[in-house]
Amino acid sequence: MTEINSVTTLTQDGDIAIITLNSPPVNALSAKVREGLYEGFKAANASDAKATVLICDGRTFIAGADITEFGGAMTGPSLYDVQEVMENSPKPVIAAIHGTALGGGLEVALCAHYRVAVPSARVGLPEVALGLLPGAGGTQRLPRIVGVEAALDMVTSGRHAPAKQALGMGLVDELVEEGKLLEGALAFARKAVAEGKPLVKVRENNAKLEAARGHPEIFAEFRKANARKFRGFAAPEANIKCIEAAVNSASFEEGLKVERKLFGELMSGSQSAAQRYYFFAERQANKIPDVPDDTPIRPIRKVGIIGAGTMGGGIAMNFANVGIPVVIVEQQQEALDRGLGVIRKNYERTASRGGITAEQVEQRTGLITGSLSMEDSFKDVDLVIEAVFERMDIKKDIFAKLDAICKPGAILATNTSGLDIDEIAAVTKRPQDVIGLHFFSPANVMKLLEIVRADHTAKDVIATSMKLARQIGKIAVLAGVTPGFIGNRILAQRQREAQNLVMDGAMPWDVDRVLYDFGFPMGPFAMGDLAGLDIGWVKEKSHGETIRDVLCEMDRRGQKTGAGYYDYDENRNAKPSPVTEKIINDFIAKSGINPRKVGDDEILERCIFPMINEGVKILEEKKAIRASDVDVVWVNGYGWPVYRGGPMFYGDLVGGPAVVLKKMQEFQAKMGDQFKPAALLEKLAAEGKTFADLKG
Ligand code: CAA
Repeated sequence: MTEINSVTTLTQDGDIAIITLNSPPVNALSAKVREGLYEGFKAANASDAKATVLICDGRTFIAGADITEFGGAMTGPSLYDVQEVMENSPKPVIAAIHGTALGGGLEVALCAHYRVAVPSARVGLPEVALGLLPGAGGTQRLPRIVGVEAALDMVTSGRHAPAKQALGMGLVDELVEEGKLLEGALAFARKAVAEGKPLVKVRENNAKLEAARGHPEIFAEFRKANARKFRGFAAPEANIKCIEAAVNSASFEEGLKVERKLFGELMSGSQSAAQRYYFFAERQANKIPDVPDDTPIRPIRKVGIIGAGTMGGGIAMNFANVGIPVVIVEQQQEALDRGLGVIRKNYERTASRGGITAEQVEQRTGLITGSLSMEDSFKDVDLVIEAVFERMDIKKDIFAKLDAICKPGAILATNTSGLDIDEIAAVTKRPQDVIGLHFFSPANVMKLLEIVRADHTAKDVIATSMKLARQIGKIAVLAGVTPGFIGNRILAQRQREAQNLVMDGAMPWDVDRVLYDFGFPMGPFAMGDLAGLDIGWVKEKSHGETIRDVLCEMDRRGQKTGAGYYDYDENRNAKPSPVTEKIINDFIAKSGINPRKVGDDEILERCIFPMINEGVKILEEKKAIRASDVDVVWVNGYGWPVYRGGPMFYGDLVGGPAVVLKKMQEFQAKMGDQFKPAALLEKLAAEGKTFADLKG
């Protein structure tokens, strides 16, 4: 065995050379890995071996470029150098894939002459998710193998193709038995030598590109079909342009030049910086400083849910989806039947779209049972999630009952979106077992889970909740008890300013347009119309005191009544409403305000800067661990565009604490103390720090 460097070895099995990489956790293409590959292939090429197998130790084949190295100066051999020495090797090179061959990892594999994989392996070019494109020839080699349409789909979705599919697409040449990758790869290599198989260079294979040449409509149609999905993002279009270049360029090298240029542009832009930051932010959110990885976990084998409404039903589905039985308790049989019916319908809808099989529908609905009695049904559950009306007295009553019914060690959770969980926990004799699990609606779809730690919540209850969140496919962020927790507390700032802007003379559709253009899926008024303006509105108590009151009194309650802030046609397309405009103008006249023209910049700044300031306050009060956790909440729960990183990242992007502070001071002087800067914001600005410095 020859040690090429600290992460690479070269061995020989008969007349086959084996280059083995071992660079945990994911064999990313760091400088050391590139050096190992480059020197390893040089040595293998110079040896008397007749073929070379490239294989990785640990959990996966190369998972891509080392994202932590991006933005720094490159040292040692480049990825192109590595690819060249592989592709030009005078003897067959076989990449042996397990785990995931992603990004630069797949691009390396595409420079082998052949690829074998175990059935559980997956391959893909996920760079688009980092605001990038495959910058090591991926956009030029992929369509040469899989064709233009499939390549467009893969690079713009970042989808990982399972090995079997990859085999069908020609990305993999042979599947080998699970757990026997090396043996399989060696056998393939021996066969290649014995049969004198050609040294296939993907770059020379032009047939699939030629088929697409002279058909610009392929690209036009693809762009049109995906316009909504790609809105605001720079990377998908750059990826498309590269594939277009593969088709239209006179040579591989020319296409590669386009790829390099566009890669450089994306890499130096703010979108990719935001998306790369976000990649790590999401992983960081799992780390709780005082709850170490080895904290014991309480087994969760059965879950109880109180409330069969939209929220309770959606929450139940999460557990059934991963095979955990759930019992839902309601007060009335009718409400229970309705709730269980909705769950079944949801599953059936998914099945009709091909998401799950009819058998899975039965399996999952079979795991969800209903009951009218907590006493009968909650004795043996390991976790209860209360998902009833947001009223403290009701919640306290429920928790007192749970305390009497549930077995010792059961986790008692509330799905409150902002009430004081310490107050709820105080009615039990086991506050250490009480925690907040704030799901977002629809709970079976939305990725975010705010896990709320109360004063006495035990560490193993937190650790169990974090693990459970991963198990049900959620992205969890730990928050402390504060009104609205992280997400809704920040949202309240934006909602207030949206309303104030309207009283100053902006129309709801102006505010919505600015926030939509910023990248949100919709603005606050369109959102209100969608959710229903009558949420929390009580007819008997409504006396036209707010614009919303007047709208609801007129039965303009949002999309469901065909009108709200906007007018809607039969297809629910929104149009600015002259009725709403008149209501607003009457309100302004009554209040003695002089309406003025409010500019788009002011709309954006008044909506966004107070959110950043509130994020800082939450961090100051230690209700969130780190700035990036705030961003994870907003990207996953509230539609903040990931290419702007999140409110805190955006704060740094526009100039950092000093700039945000100046704006808040300016607004405070003009409009009042709702813009009062957080003390920590002043401190950060004075010390010349960034929001990213708030690392917990
Ligand atoms: N670079 C550096 N670190 C990486 C990494 C990468 N490409 N991919 C993963 N990691 C790190 C993670 O940050 C994490 O570190 P911590 O344990 O310290 O938090 C660790 O590896 C394990 O990652 P996950 O927790 O995500 O583990 P997983 O098993 O759930 O998923 C994975 C593994 C599927 C590989 C996933 O990590 C992933 O999708 N990684 C990114 C893959 C990617 O985007 N590759 C393309 C890179 S860009 C590129 O290649 C450009 C080019 O064209 C040259």
